[in-house]
Amino acid sequence: MGDNGLFDKPEMGLTGRPKRELPQPPALDRHGPAKIISMVNQKGGVGKTTTTINLGACLAEQGRKVLLVDLDPQGALSAGLGVGHDEELTTVYDLMLDNTSSIHSAIRHTNVSGLDLVTANIDLSAAEIQLVNEVGREQTLGRALRPVRRDYDYIIIDCGPSLGLLAVNALACSHGVIIPMECEFFSLRGLALLTDTVEKVRDRINFDLEIVGILVTMFDRRTTHAREVMDRVVEVFGDRVFDTVITRTVRFPETSVAGEPITTWAPSSQGAAQYRNLALEVIERTG
Ligand SMILES: Nc1ncnc2c1ncn2[C@@H]1O[C@H](COP(=O)(O)OP(=O)(O)OP(=O)(O)O)[C@@H](O)[C@H]1O
Ligand SMILES: [Mg+2]
Repeated sequence: MGDNGLFDKPEMGLTGRPKRELPQPPALDRHGPAKIISMVNQKGGVGKTTTTINLGACLAEQGRKVLLVDLDPQGALSAGLGVGHDEELTTVYDLMLDNTSSIHSAIRHTNVSGLDLVTANIDLSAAEIQLVNEVGREQTLGRALRPVRRDYDYIIIDCGPSLGLLAVNALACSHGVIIPMECEFFSLRGLALLTDTVEKVRDRINFDLEIVGILVTMFDRRTTHAREVMDRVVEVFGDRVFDTVITRTVRFPETSVAGEPITTWAPSSQGAAQYRNLALEVIERTG
């Protein structure tokens, strides 16, 4: 008997689990209310902003209406989408600390159809301290976003590298959390603190909060170290780890300079395919 393929092992993905074809999601005939997702990891430089931009662009490619919210005083999200700094613009800081600002005046369109943005600037670095004495300080961002929840299918909040009051505001108004993590040993340590914080917010403020998934970024398949860390992450977090893995490539730093997502900068690159696949997984998981 020849080899009829019955005993072939299934093709494995980078997580070590079998590869799976994801269904093309149905087109939407109307939009909203939005699922709100926070992109969180208190470790810096793990791919939060890169993932916010590219997941947002790929969800928009799927016909979803997407609002990205920059919640980092560094404003990298705005820069990464080519939206420059303008003193006149209403920013997320104004929305959170000035009751007269309206979110409608803060929304910028990007060059990607269906993808909008609320910007941040350095003013936001004072917000943590200024919010401390406010009543309902954890719900400030949620209140600001409420008027546009019906207009979008997804609102993605790009947090800065901290677990302070801004991140708690993001978690307090979110349905889900995506945790991007760099595939290296020290990344594992911080994840326990992060998942504890998510659980505290769920217990105390937002009972519906869920971890949508853990996304391994900057994966380098040539190193045994990366593969060992991957095995450990899958062992600890199981199915919460996305099948999609983002590999390390210079294409991403290039996109930040260009101020556009990978889907337009390098549409047929591996990185673009990976973020498109992530969008399908996110749609599948957030239903
Ligand atoms: N898959 C990748 N391969 C190579 N470089 C990447 C990849 N993803 C992101 N980068 C680069 O790594 C740097 C950090 O990424 P990014 O800004 O998305 O991280 P971050 O978690 O938002 O950082 P911060 O905590 O400072 O906000 C950027 O220069 C980005 O271009
Ligand atoms: Mg960032």
